[in-house]
Formats: sequence, C-alpha cells, structure tokens
Amino acid sequence: MISRSALSRLSLVFILALSSFTGFSQEAATEAAVAVDIEAGKTLFKNLCAACHNRDMKSDLTGPALGVAEANWSAFPQADLYNWIRNSQAMVKAGHPRAVEVYNQWKQVQMTAFTSLTDPEIANILAYINCTYTNTCPGSAIVSGPPVDDLTPKTNNRPLFFLLVAMLGILAIVLARILSNLDYMLKVQEGTAPARRKTLVELLTSRGVVGVVIFSLIVLGGYSTVNNAVNLGRQQGYAPEQPIKFSHATHAGLHKIDCQYCHDGARRSKQSVIPAANTCMNCHTAIDVGSQYGTAEITKIYASIGWDPVEKQYIENYDDMTEADIEKVYRKWISNIYVRDMGDKDPKNDKLEKTVNEQWKAIKASLTNETKKKIQGPIEWVRIHNLPDHAYFNHAQHVAVGKVECQTCHGPVEAMEVVAQHSPLSMGWCVNCHRQTEVKFAENEYYQSYERLHEELKKGERKGVTVEEIGGLECQKCHY
Ligand code: HEC
Ligand code: HEC
Ligand code: HEC
Ligand code: HEC
Ligand code: HEC
Ligand code: HEC
Repeated sequence: MISRSALSRLSLVFILALSSFTGFSQEAATEAAVAVDIEAGKTLFKNLCAACHNRDMKSDLTGPALGVAEANWSAFPQADLYNWIRNSQAMVKAGHPRAVEVYNQWKQVQMTAFTSLTDPEIANILAYINCTYTNTCPGSAIVSGPPVDDLTPKTNNRPLFFLLVAMLGILAIVLARILSNLDYMLKVQEGTAPARRKTLVELLTSRGVVGVVIFSLIVLGGYSTVNNAVNLGRQQGYAPEQPIKFSHATHAGLHKIDCQYCHDGARRSKQSVIPAANTCMNCHTAIDVGSQYGTAEITKIYASIGWDPVEKQYIENYDDMTEADIEKVYRKWISNIYVRDMGDKDPKNDKLEKTVNEQWKAIKASLTNETKKKIQGPIEWVRIHNLPDHAYFNHAQHVAVGKVECQTCHGPVEAMEVVAQHSPLSMGWCVNCHRQTEVKFAENEYYQSYERLHEELKKGERKGVTVEEIGGLECQKCHY
C-alpha cells in the first residue's frame, strides 16, 4: 500500500532527480561549448588561412570573406565544406556546384590544400570564423586572470540553451504525469478517487503548468533582450554614410593634416571631438571647389555655416534667412562654377539647370533630417564609436599620458575614405591591452608614488610596469 508520506517522499526524489538532471545538463552544456576550441581555431586560421582570407571575415582579400562561407555551403552536407577546405581542387574536379561556382568567381585562383586538417581542427577554425564575424569571440586573447574574463562575451551557445529548456520542459511534463498517476492510484486505494483522471490536455492547461511556461518565457525573453542589447553596442566595422563625403584619406593621408589639428580634444580632454565647420573654413574659404566633387560637397560646409562663396563673406543674420533665399545664394554659386568650368563643353548650358537642381537637392537633404529641419546649423555627423553609458573612456589619458597612437585603437584612419570602426570596443579589448601594455612609468611624475615598483625597476627585478599593475583592471576605473 502506498501511503501519503511515501508519495511525498517519492516526489522529493523526483525533484532531486530533476535538479541533478539540471546540474548534469549544465555540465554537458559547458562541455559542449568548450568542445570547439576558438583559441586553437584562431591559431590555425592565422597560420594557414590569413595569408589569403581577411582576418575581419567581412572583406575579401586574395580569397573571399569567410564570414558567410558556411551559409554559402549550407545547401550541402557539412562534410562538403570540410572536404573543400582539405582539398578544394578535388571538389572542383568532381564538379561540386558550390566549388565550381566559387572557383570561377575567383578567376580560378587555387586555394592551398590542407589535407592533414582533422575534423575537430576544421570545426575550430569555422567556430573562430563565425565568432569573429559576429563579434562574439570569448575575450579574444585573454589567457588567464581574475574573474574579469567571465564578463567577456561567450561563444554562441544559445541553440544549446533552447534545446536544454525544451528537454527540461518535456521532462517536467512527464514527471507531472507520473505524479498525477501515482496520486490517482493513491486516491483509488483510499477510495476517494474522482470519477475520471485528468487528461493530458487538462494537465497541460492547469494553472501550475501555465505559470511555469509564462515564467520561462519571461526569463528567456529577458535573456535574449539583454544579449541583444549587449551586442547592439558592438559594431566593429561600422562605417555609416556621412552627410558630407569627408575623406580622411584626402586630409590626413594625402595632405598629411595632423589628426589633432581637427580632433584637438584628444590631447586635452575625455572626448576627441569632431571639428566644427569653423575648422573646415580655415582651409575651405580658399579651397572652394574640389577636384573630386566640384561644388557638390564643399558647398555643404558653406550652407551650414552661412558663407557666401560668391561674395566671399559670411551672410549676416543667416539664421533668420528663409530656405528660398538660402537656395538663391548657393544656386548662383553652383551655376557660376558650372559655367566657368563647362563653358566650352556645354556652350548652350543644356545641363546647367539639371545640375544645379540635383546638387541643391542633395545639399539640402544632407543638412536636414527628421529632427533638424533647418539648413543652417552644425553638420550632423553620424557618430561611429560609441561606448555604453556605464563605461568611462578618456582620450587624454591614453593619447597624452599613455602615448598610445590613434591608429593603435582606430586603425589606419589616414587611409580611409569613409571611417570604419576598427576595434571591437568591448571590455575584453580594453582589458587585454591593459594587461599587455606598459605605462610610461619612468617619465611620468604621476607615478612617483609607486615606490615598490620603482624599487623593483631599479634593482632590475622587473623590466616595466603594465597598466594592469597600476590598477588598470579595477572595475571602478572604467565603470561609473
Ligand atoms: C593561397 C590562398 C588561400 C589560402 C591559404 C586559403 N584559401 Fe580559402 N580560398 C582561397 C580562394 C582564392 C578561394 C576562392 C575559391 C577559389 O578560387 O578556389 C577560397 C575559398 C574558400 C572557401 C569557400 C568560400 C565560399 O564562400 O564558398 C572557404 C570556406 C575557404 N576558402 C576556407 C579556407 C580556410 C579555412 C583556409 C585555411 C585553413 C583557407 N581557406 C586558406 C584562397 C586561399
Ligand atoms: C581635416 C579635419 C580632420 C583630420 C585632419 C582628421 N579628422 Fe578624423 N574626423 C573628421 C571629421 C569631420 C569626422 C566626422 C566625419 C567622419 O566620420 O568621417 C572625423 C571622424 C573621425 C573618427 C570617427 C569618429 C566617430 O564618430 O566615432 C575617428 C576615429 C577619427 N576621425 C580619427 C582621426 C584620426 C586618427 C586622424 C589622423 C590620422 C584624423 N581623424 C584626422 C575630421 C578630421
Ligand atoms: C588644413 C586644411 C583643410 C581643412 C582644415 C579641411 N580641409 Fe577639406 N580639403 C583640404 C584639401 C587640401 C582638399 C583637397 C582639395 C582638392 O581636392 O582639390 C580638401 C578636400 C575636401 C573635400 C573634397 C572636395 C572634392 O570635391 O574633392 C571635402 C568634401 C572636404 N575637404 C571637406 C572638409 C570638411 C568637412 C572639413 C572640416 C571638418 C575640412 N574639409 C577641413 C584641406 C582642408
Ligand atoms: C586607447 C584607445 C584609443 C586611442 C589611443 C584613441 N582613441 Fe579615439 N576613441 C576610442 C574609444 C574607445 C572611443 C569611443 C569613446 C566613447 O564612446 O566614449 C573613441 C572615440 C573617438 C572619436 C569620436 C568622438 C569622441 O571623442 O568620442 C574620435 C573623433 C576619436 N576617437 C579620435 C581619436 C584621435 C584623433 C586619436 C589620436 C589623437 C584617438 N582617437 C586615440 C579609443 C581610442
Ligand atoms: C592600445 C592599448 C589600450 C587600449 C585598447 C585601452 N587602453 Fe586604457 N590605458 C592604456 C594605457 C597605456 C594606459 C596608461 C596611461 C597612463 O600612463 O596613465 C591606460 C589607462 C587607462 C585608464 C586609467 C587607469 C589608471 O589606473 O589610472 C583607464 C580608466 C582606461 N585606460 C580605460 C580604458 C577603457 C575603458 C578602454 C576601452 C574602451 C581602454 N582603456 C582601452 C592603454 C589602452
Ligand atoms: C579597462 C576598462 C574596464 C575595466 C577594468 C572593467 N570594465 Fe567592464 N566594461 C568595459 C567596457 C568598455 C564595457 C562595454 C563593453 C561593450 O559595450 O561591449 C564593459 C562592460 C561591462 C559589463 C556589461 C556587459 C558587457 O559585456 O557589455 C559589465 C557587467 C562589466 N563591464 C563589469 C565589470 C566588472 C565587474 C569589472 C571589474 C572586475 C569590470 N567591468 C572592469 C571596460 C572595463
């Protein structure tokens, strides 16, 4: 005979079993997550693939960008992609559709064969490619250290997470069913059994189960919202179109204008600051027609600040001018230059009207948007680099004190036609550099107080002092 206490003991066993199952699956989950070794994949990629495939996985090099490679092969069995990497030519010869297609697209440049790569090694490389492409690699090269590592982004094990939740859900239903059966049997024995047992549907729509489902949905929703929010801020490679086709390659590259001529905040303050139109005017009162775009781009500077390039003077009360009057000023200018430059080539000025119309329309569109209705006023550059509000970053600290080059963090800006975000700006990125970079210890009075470190330097016990050792990994240094 089953007594009530036996039943409750039984349910206890079930709950214990459930929780140990949860523990077990979590272990299994972590194991599966580390089964691919991103770090090993990275090393293999660098040694074998990086010569031809771009490390950013987003742009082409000698070979195609690999970020979308798996998607390109997704119509075929996974083994095909693995075989391609081991011996692409064999696949081409065998007439595999994707192999032939990509081979021809790349003008029949042959990819090296890597016949000795094992399946797990290829899996590691592909995992590294994917996480680099989606910007989700775990704390990049962080090797060891304090719990900081745990906060850096993890590999994407979300599918596994969902699978786990689904399995637990099913298990819960099965257990609930068993419990209800036992309960029923007990009641039958006690003679208090209801006329019929609850059906599965009734059981599934019972309050308890519905509650659990809603709770899980909320937890899951929260999880993915947070996850997306965290990734939202990260946008390595982001290169939005700007209101003016301003080229760093022309200014900082070709004409060798110093970064700090325009970004003069970098040395002195937290922010580098985007230069105001006044700074542009230092040169562009004189350079009023560009060799690339003629009047199309430089006129935008004038229209934002109220410079009349025909009269060569600032317009009085520009802020109060109507759009129609503004339009007249700049149409005149664009048309003058058109006639000056195209006089012989377009004697009847056939295209004059059309050119002026098109240019003015584009200028107006660049200087206005949903919130900025007026042409007058600051040029609204699209911000590219953007840390979340809870993180504190100071340019002067790095540029003036740490003597870190702009390019170390921003990449070869002087070669960029359009600025793109070069670094991930993740916490792992900051922390990593602080672990590896030495501060200008001896030269800086600020560090006089670190007596022990100075002693050790003097005695030759250490060669240098890293940012980490002066506290560069302390949470509150970077977080408000
Ligand atoms: C010598 C240059 C070279 C090296 C080294 C190289 N590849 Fe390639 N790879 C190419 C070229 C070129 C293509 C384009 C197809 C072709 O022309 O054969 C390609 C194509 C691919 C493709 C197919 C992409 C698609 O969209 O279908 C994958 C996947 C790939 N490579 C992976 C790798 C991996 C992984 C490594 C390192 C283990 C590697 N490649 C090393 C040159 C190279
Ligand atoms: C002639 C002025 C000028 C010079 C010189 C100049 N910049 Fe800029 N920079 C700008 C302007 C204007 C923008 C905003 C438009 C854009 O993003 O292209 C900008 C944007 C940037 C941005 C992106 C800011 C954001 O929104 O996150 C970075 C980074 C940057 N510059 C770095 C540099 C570096 C590094 C150099 C030197 C190699 C340099 N700049 C030289 C004018 C200049
Ligand atoms: C120190 C001088 C200097 C400053 C400051 C400067 N520029 Fe220039 N800019 C030049 C030179 C030189 C050229 C090349 C002119 C040419 O193409 O003939 C140029 C070219 C350009 C062009 C391309 C024009 C074309 O049609 O080819 C644009 C657009 C431009 N500048 C925008 C800006 C903006 C916006 C600023 C302010 C953020 C700025 N410039 C600040 C010197 C400067
Ligand atoms: C140690 C890395 C590092 C160095 C060195 C560095 N920057 Fe930055 N830069 C950043 C980060 C991080 C941001 C984003 C800051 C934010 O969102 O608060 C940024 C943002 C910017 C911006 C956008 C406007 C702003 O101030 O937020 C400009 C422009 C810029 N940097 C220019 C420069 C120039 C020019 C230099 C060299 C004189 C330089 N940076 C050196 C990391 C660096
Ligand atoms: C390329 C290397 C590099 C990167 C990337 C970098 N830093 Fe630094 N950071 C330094 C150096 C070098 C110093 C030391 C400057 C000095 O001598 O005081 C420093 C110092 C600091 C300090 C002052 C630490 C102290 O103990 O006084 C803070 C705060 C800081 N960095 C924040 C950040 C943040 C936030 C990021 C990422 C957004 C970042 N750093 C990225 C190199 C870097
Ligand atoms: C050198 C600077 C630096 C230090 C030191 C630092 N953080 Fe961060 N942390 C950042 C930056 C920058 C971000 C924003 C990363 C992003 O937007 O991807 C961040 C993000 C975070 C986040 C949000 C989650 C995420 O990945 O975006 C948490 C939580 C966090 N840090 C906690 C900590 C704790 C706890 C410590 C101390 C153990 C710490 N941080 C030390 C720079 C730092």
